[in-house]
Amino acid sequence: MASTTTLSTAATPSQLCASKNGMSSPSGALLRKPVRGLPGPGKERSRTITCQATSIPADRVPDMGKRQLLNLLLLGAVSLPTAGMLIPYASFFVPAGSGAAGGGIIAKDALGNDVIEAAWLKTHGPGDRTLTQGLKGDPTYLVVENDRTLATYGINAVCTHLGCVVPWNTAEKKFICPCHGSQYNNQGKVVRGPAPLSLALAHVDIDDGKVVFVPWVETDFRTGEAPWWA
Ligand code: FES
Repeated sequence: MASTTTLSTAATPSQLCASKNGMSSPSGALLRKPVRGLPGPGKERSRTITCQATSIPADRVPDMGKRQLLNLLLLGAVSLPTAGMLIPYASFFVPAGSGAAGGGIIAKDALGNDVIEAAWLKTHGPGDRTLTQGLKGDPTYLVVENDRTLATYGINAVCTHLGCVVPWNTAEKKFICPCHGSQYNNQGKVVRGPAPLSLALAHVDIDDGKVVFVPWVETDFRTGEAPWWA
């Protein structure tokens, strides 16, 4: 039994000219395809299909070097703005530098300005305890001694119970937590619970006239014990 190829009458010459890989034959190419089974008087008839596909001249096809250049330009156009956004985002997670040596940080006042020792002592008298920004951004009290000098320690104001900021009560001469009533003496040693521990300490140094907080890793002079916060 002879095999036959069926040609749909709906097929157009352009469909017939499509090759497997989708490329078109060069302009003006002829495709002669014998088609069997077409109606005819007793013998096979063949039909010639002319494919006239449009091709791109070779001199207009971008070469590989140009393609790679365009890819690089595209990559640069996308990656540069992305990097510009990522760098500030990543820096958000890096602790702010202090500009001070030895792992210390310059104390900041309520306005975010560096605390200058001489200027501070002109406006803060004996017994004063005023909040500044200390290590890790924690609120930290600067203490003015009775001889009008700065104490060599700062007192971290974060309550050791549940973390409220503890205000200084001038009348009581204590730090009294407004959240659950814990009390600390004038050096931050806990004297009444529920706070389990004394307030943390930081060293106070002077660097070029500026007040610098430095981590306190030595024995807590108030309790004679190792510092719980170190
Ligand atoms: S947070 Fe200070 S006593 Fe509870």
